[in-house]
Amino acid sequence: MHKPTVLVTGAGIGIGAATAQAFAAAGYRVIATDILEEEGRSVAAGIEANGGVAEYHRLDVTKTDDVEAVVSSVQDRYGPIDTVVANAGIAYRVPLAELDDERWDHTLDVDLKGIMRVCRAAAPAMRTARRGNMIALSSIMGVAYGWDEHVHYSAAKAGVVGLVRGLAVELAPDVRVNGLAPGYIRTAQSLSREHSSGPAGLAEAAKFIPLGRVGEPEDIADVAVFLASEAARYLTGQVIVVDGGLLVGRY
Ligand SMILES: NC(=O)c1ccc[n+]([C@@H]2O[C@H](COP(=O)([O-])OP(=O)(O)OC[C@H]3O[C@@H](n4cnc5c(N)ncnc54)[C@H](O)[C@@H]3O)[C@@H](O)[C@H]2O)c1
Repeated sequence: MHKPTVLVTGAGIGIGAATAQAFAAAGYRVIATDILEEEGRSVAAGIEANGGVAEYHRLDVTKTDDVEAVVSSVQDRYGPIDTVVANAGIAYRVPLAELDDERWDHTLDVDLKGIMRVCRAAAPAMRTARRGNMIALSSIMGVAYGWDEHVHYSAAKAGVVGLVRGLAVELAPDVRVNGLAPGYIRTAQSLSREHSSGPAGLAEAAKFIPLGRVGEPEDIADVAVFLASEAARYLTGQVIVVDGGLLVGRY
């Protein structure tokens, strides 16, 4: 039987690691990629230790050559990738006055162009095989909220929405493309006091999230597995907000 392959970027920690584990539990061969070598290897080893199938590849999403090389190597061995989860992302606090071209470009390069690079590399074989799907990580800060001192991040994450819509139409009917817009999820990114909410900010947020808690990486990972599954066969071009009711509950 065909064992589907999922390639996850930024799979060493946080939402990416949970996503790699959730796809492994769902029976996928997991290609865990990250610039964090130790963490990425450990996620792949953990999956294997639990009876799953996984391998780690170093992949910096800002490097077109890295992306092409990893995707080709995977396709040569296992055929077209079934699911891409373009998850790698960064969020740095930078007030507008300090937002020089270099900082703007770096965030856009990882958070938006990094997603395009992976989708672009995986698409041709998926189209030839006439199957496959892609999931890109946006954010509530890209679909609904403006995030002060993070306009580069908000712009990139809003850009992901356009990327998902355009790609969904261009790659239809063979390949589905959707996005996820997480709310507050407990990871290294959101726990950073300097660049995001920090532990106190997350505790504060939990008070006004209708489901009564900050999200865990697994809350996002499980929806990614759903988006990749047959159950989501008629779903494309959408960015699903997974936020415990935050957006609809705050007024
Ligand atoms: N945590 C949240 O509350 C939250 C909310 C909304 C959206 N998101 C998005 O979800 C995704 C995962 O976030 P997270 O919270 O797990 O963050 P995280 O900081 O815990 O993990 C991010 C991962 O991306 C990797 N990465 C960074 N730059 C990379 C590069 N150039 N190439 C390859 N990998 C790179 C990191 O090494 C890390 O493994 C990101 O796109 C993030 O913006 C997170």
